[in-house]
Amino acid sequence: MVNASSSISAPDLCILTDGDPPGSVAESKLARHLNIPCLSTQQSLDRAGLYLQFRDGQLRLGRLGAREHPVAVDFVSSLINPRRGPELLLKAIGAMPSRHTVVDATAGLGRDSVILLGAGYKVTMIEENPVAVALLNDALARLRKELATSSHADKIALLAGQAEQVLPTLAQQDGADVIYLDPMFAASGKSALVKKDMQLFQSLLGHGGDAAELLEVALSTAKYRVVVKRAIKAQPLADRQPTLSVSGKAVRFDVYALRSLKRD
Ligand SMILES: C[S@@+](CC[C@H](N)C(=O)[O-])C[C@H]1O[C@@H](n2cnc3c(N)ncnc32)[C@H](O)[C@@H]1O
Repeated sequence: MVNASSSISAPDLCILTDGDPPGSVAESKLARHLNIPCLSTQQSLDRAGLYLQFRDGQLRLGRLGAREHPVAVDFVSSLINPRRGPELLLKAIGAMPSRHTVVDATAGLGRDSVILLGAGYKVTMIEENPVAVALLNDALARLRKELATSSHADKIALLAGQAEQVLPTLAQQDGADVIYLDPMFAASGKSALVKKDMQLFQSLLGHGGDAAELLEVALSTAKYRVVVKRAIKAQPLADRQPTLSVSGKAVRFDVYALRSLKRD
């Protein structure tokens, strides 16, 4: 597990704490790491933006002044109550021996990673956003504590950084059998339809940029295949035609086959 060490600019972000003066050891450490202020509820009253908060043993992300509950990444509950509809992703990733690794190179809130983990794959997550990295690290620590005796805990890892830089090193170590990319949020305008945690995350990250270079690096480093998640009507990433697509109602998984999964 590697920690990110960049600072956050927009939107405004703070650590919200119950203490006055604010700041437990964990809160102060994260505030320093992310270069953001640590505020009491009182101090946050006239501010807008997002907050991180340690509550009930979880690190949560919320919006100041909003009525909705903040969100946390929770691998344990996702493994116990898997979300419905992961078949398309699993079909696109394909059947591989369990010693092989899927690299989720744009891990985000880890929702796709936990599907892959639950299906028995070894998963390496890569994420460049330090807030997402903090939420994922917190979820991983709880997974390792609460499911210490299950095989899941040993089958998932997180690397912080830009995937374009991390992937070549992973490939050298034979750790990039299949690379999965879900680089950006579709700017559909149907924000009411976007789930609450994704809306918060979109506020944090924007709608994503050009992932053409990321696709190039993935294609030159994956051993067997690269899978890219796209909105159903979107052009293939970087206009590069996939070998095949696995399509649902709203999303499509474009598969770039490099070598047969059955060969080794
Ligand atoms: C749409 S979200 C991914 C959602 C994720 N599939 C999930 O299930 O939660 C895209 C994520 O990719 C990250 N990202 C985008 N480009 C990246 C890159 N080049 N390297 C590492 N992370 C990247 C963003 O910070 C963001 O967290």
